[in-house]
Amino acid sequence: MRVVIAGGHGKIALLLERLLAERGDQAVALIRNPAHVADVRKGGAEAFICDLEAASADEVAVLLAGADAVVFAAGAGPGSGAPRKDSVDRAGSVLMAEAAEQAGVRRFVQVSSMGAGQPPQPGTDEVWAAYITAKTAAEADLRARDLDWTILRPGGLTDAPATGRIRLASPPVPAGTVPRADVAAVIAALLDNPGTQHQTLELVSGNSPVATAVHTIS
Ligand SMILES: NC(=O)c1ccc[n+]([C@@H]2O[C@H](COP(=O)([O-])OP(=O)(O)OC[C@H]3O[C@@H](n4cnc5c(N)ncnc54)[C@H](OP(=O)(O)O)[C@@H]3O)[C@@H](O)[C@H]2O)c1
Repeated sequence: MRVVIAGGHGKIALLLERLLAERGDQAVALIRNPAHVADVRKGGAEAFICDLEAASADEVAVLLAGADAVVFAAGAGPGSGAPRKDSVDRAGSVLMAEAAEQAGVRRFVQVSSMGAGQPPQPGTDEVWAAYITAKTAAEADLRARDLDWTILRPGGLTDAPATGRIRLASPPVPAGTVPRADVAAVIAALLDNPGTQHQTLELVSGNSPVATAVHTIS
């Protein structure tokens, strides 16, 4: 399987690329900083330079030629302001989904966030509100498309080692945290399970082995 990952030098993305390469899949990282090429290659992935805030859907569609799946794992990240929540977390996903349609790549896994899908609470910090608004809009855009999408909403991300044990279910799942390494394992399993298409899933640490949890909801 050839999998193109937007935000290819992100923490989840690098873990996912390694998992995909180890199981014999081709991982392709879209990155914006040429200095990140070496890190990506070290994990067994190919790297293409693509700034999601500058590229057109036509340009991205060229990079998706021959792919079997797209993963949107980009994000403006901590320290970014409200405008970049919109230009990366929302518009970056819209761009990838549009390009996937153009290129005929049907499978699309979007990394969203728990908290998306509802308006931000009144009095919420302005940047957090912009983030949740952007993720909610990105989800809505994807649901409206003729793609085999799965929306994955992890809880708070940690850099702890993988546990292999998760709670994965349709919303609402009680708030919690989850290691990025487990998120990467879940994405790899979702890519293998087309039965998870058209589902929105929330993810925190739990008791179920990843394969069992993904199989159960497929
Ligand atoms: N933090 C949390 O607790 C939490 C919880 C739930 C969901 N999430 C979501 O999970 C996803 C992945 O998280 P993570 O921790 O793996 O993220 P991360 O390490 O911050 O990686 C995000 C990647 O997106 C890339 N990016 C930003 N702007 C870009 C642009 N214009 N063009 C191309 N790439 C661009 C960044 O590239 P550069 O390295 O070049 O900046 C970075 O490599 C994000 O969507 C995040 O919102 C986070």
